[in-house]
Amino acid sequence: MRTKQIDKSPARLDFIQSASGLILALFMWGHMFFVSTILLGKDVMYQVTLFFEGYYFFAESYPLIVTIIAGTVFVIFILHAGVAMRKFPSSYKQYKILKNHIETFKHADTKLWFWQIFTGFAMFFLGSVHLYIIMTNSTEIGPYASADRVVSEWMWPLYILLLLAVELHGSIGLYRLCLKWGWFEGKDAKTSRVKLRQAKYAITIFFLTLGFLTLAAYIKIGLEHQDRAGERYHIEKTVVQGVKS
Ligand code: HEM
Repeated sequence: MRTKQIDKSPARLDFIQSASGLILALFMWGHMFFVSTILLGKDVMYQVTLFFEGYYFFAESYPLIVTIIAGTVFVIFILHAGVAMRKFPSSYKQYKILKNHIETFKHADTKLWFWQIFTGFAMFFLGSVHLYIIMTNSTEIGPYASADRVVSEWMWPLYILLLLAVELHGSIGLYRLCLKWGWFEGKDAKTSRVKLRQAKYAITIFFLTLGFLTLAAYIKIGLEHQDRAGERYHIEKTVVQGVKS
C-alpha cells in the first residue's frame, strides 16, 4: 500500500520566514544603536564607522567589509520578502474580504497583521533603495558623509517613511513570532499575550524615539555642513593616510 507523503514545504517556508525575520529584526536593533551613536557626538560615530571598516583590526580602512555586510543583509531581506509574499492578498477580492473581516471582528491581532503586510509592502521599495545605496557607497559613511546624504542628497523623506515602516514591522513581527512559537508563554497564555503586547508597544516607542532623534541629529549636521557637502570628517589623533569618513 502506498503511503501518502505529507507536503512539508509550507512548514519549511514558515520556518524560513520566521528565521529570516528574526535575524533582520535583531540586526535592526543593532543597526539603530550604531547609527544613533551620532547622538553621542561626531567622534563616536566616526569611531563606529572605522570599527565596521575593520580599521581597529587591520590598521587600515576596508569599506568593502561594509559592502559585504550590506549585501548579505540584502540577500536575507529579499529572501524574507520572497517567502512573505505568499501571505499577501493576491487580488482585490481577497483584499476586500480581509478588510471586511477586520472591520467586522475588530480583532486587535488581525489588525496588527494588516499593518505588517502594509509596512512590509512599503519596505520592498524603501528598504531596497537604502540597502543598494549603502552597498554601493560604503566609502561614504561617517558623521559628515551620512549627514550630507540625509540633507544634501535628499534621503531624509525616505528615512522618515522607512523608519516608521521598519519599526512597526519589526516589533509587530517579533510579537507575532513570540505568539507563533510560544516564546515567553509562561503558564497563562492570555496574560503573557497582554504582556507581550505591552512590550511590543514599548519597543516601538523606544526605537521610534531613538530613530527620530538620530535623524534630527543628522539633519542638523547636514544643514550646518551644506555649504561644504562632500568634505570628509577627521579626528586629528586617529587619522592616518587612507582613512576617510
Ligand atoms: C548592513 C546593512 C546596513 C547598513 C550598513 C546601514 C547603514 C546605515 C547608515 C550609515 C545610516 C545613517 C544615514 C546614512 O548614512 O545614510 C542608516 C540609516 C538608516 N537605516 Fe540603515 N543600514 C543598513 C541596513 C538597513 C536596513 C535593512 C534597514 C531597514 C529595512 C535600514 C533602515 C535605516 C533607517 C530607517 C535609517 C534612518 C535612521 C535614522 O536616521 O534614525 N538600514 N543606515
